[in-house]
Amino acid sequence: MTQWWRDAAIYQIYPRSFQDTNGDGIGDLEGIRQRLTYLRELGADAVWLSPIFQSPMKDFGYDISDYRAIDPLFGDMAQFDALLAQAHDAGLKFLLDFVPNHSSDQHAWFAESRSSRDNPKRDWYIWKDPAPGGGPPNNWISNFGGSAWEWDEATGQYYYHAFLTSQPDLNWRNPEVREAMHDVLRFWMDKGVDGFRIDVVWHLAKDTAFRDNPPDPAWKPTQPEIDRNLQKYSADQPFVHEIIEELRDVIDEYPDRLLIGEIYLPINRLVDYYGRGNEGLHLPFNFQLITSPWRADAIRELIAEYEAAIPQGGWPNWVLSNHDQPRIAKRVGLAQARVAAMMLLTLRGTPTLYYGDEIGIGDVHIPPDRIQDPWAKNEPDASFNRDKARTPMQWSADAHAGFSETEPWLPVTDDHQTRNVAHQQGDAGSMLALHRTLLSLRKQREDLRRGDYRALDLGGPLVAYLRGDTTAVVLNLSSDRAKLDLPEEWQGGEVLLKASTGEGGGPVPGSIEGDEGLIIAFRGAGE
Ligand code: GLC
Repeated sequence: MTQWWRDAAIYQIYPRSFQDTNGDGIGDLEGIRQRLTYLRELGADAVWLSPIFQSPMKDFGYDISDYRAIDPLFGDMAQFDALLAQAHDAGLKFLLDFVPNHSSDQHAWFAESRSSRDNPKRDWYIWKDPAPGGGPPNNWISNFGGSAWEWDEATGQYYYHAFLTSQPDLNWRNPEVREAMHDVLRFWMDKGVDGFRIDVVWHLAKDTAFRDNPPDPAWKPTQPEIDRNLQKYSADQPFVHEIIEELRDVIDEYPDRLLIGEIYLPINRLVDYYGRGNEGLHLPFNFQLITSPWRADAIRELIAEYEAAIPQGGWPNWVLSNHDQPRIAKRVGLAQARVAAMMLLTLRGTPTLYYGDEIGIGDVHIPPDRIQDPWAKNEPDASFNRDKARTPMQWSADAHAGFSETEPWLPVTDDHQTRNVAHQQGDAGSMLALHRTLLSLRKQREDLRRGDYRALDLGGPLVAYLRGDTTAVVLNLSSDRAKLDLPEEWQGGEVLLKASTGEGGGPVPGSIEGDEGLIIAFRGAGE
């Protein structure tokens, strides 16, 4: 068992938006294959692809109608096999998105399930009678707004959907469902896939009595409707850990596979997903840097809390953006996005990079008539438009940023003429160059991969820590210069890398500029 993922940097690709090669304005598998060299040169060790499976695309692939088929929009199985083989040849591990909580309503399983109350697959989904006085069985709300229950006239019952009505939830308490899903994992692992990111894994088990969720007194109408109630009974139920242990057993039938899970929960709940005796997920996604305000005090605290909460034998991980969240450069601005990249790639644990962040894609204007995100369509006022995080990768100054020959499904950024890979490639001070340098430093310096983490409280706007015995990181989360009062043993150190310029060299300064980050090498104690 190598546990390769402890040393790896994962790169998330949103396949619709990476590279279009067949001129339909939507990315495809062949496009990803053509960009493998780019990923290798960047310094990624593993790629994770958002769903590429057969789907009506109501939620852009997170609504799967066949778990074992490639959607024709992206290519076919032969292209998948070629991509996987070439990724492996390029030394990249290859991870897929596993969406087990719900299928599409177009899946053959659901067609059977809804066909009659006594169909053998009726219990594969969650069907309930109306509440005693009529209406939905309980007060659960869909994550995309509205009731989470849909009335089925033909069979006179409601079915549950935590997301769109076209995404019915599977009943994971039914052992046949679990078996069928285990076989899906085996199918892809037999092909050589190195692991999975599990979609909304904390949703898999629901309360057996389907009790009403309590209201959240802190909810404001500007928040998404789902947040009206605390998700006390609809998610994060004890049984989910049994489900995950079984998934882990399936993964462990194959050598060196990785199980990551998407979980939005506070740290104390999140770390339970490592499982008893680390028999759960290898990496329960840690979204703390996404959900926290970008302030030094808040971030110092969350790192401390997270580091302290990780169970013995558990391995940390960090994420700055994904396809559901505002991009980091939009959230904190370009200058701070460089500091954030240094943080992501120097904290202890496995980092996951989101495509496009390495060139600093920031805000993208989406005209109202081009909105694609079903959630944004359902709740235009209350929620973030996820399209903004899903726009095409920008490769060159060519038309449509070199992503496609035709108008892409979502627009590129206004600054795409310069914010693109070709432009940044030759510029040592670019965001792209900074990412390459950071990723290569991680490879060179064992401290950054395996060294323990010790916080250094320098107060004010600074987040500072030691990695291993000889590496220190100081990050200024404000735009103001701050005094750098380092302990004596750091004084003789040398600056390895500055976030602002992407260069290194020189002794440790007495102050740190605003929006600056420093990686410092010094001689360890006892040397
Ligand atoms: C996850 C995915 C998101 C999707 C949802 C429903 O949160 O990341 O994109 O809409 O699950 O599958």
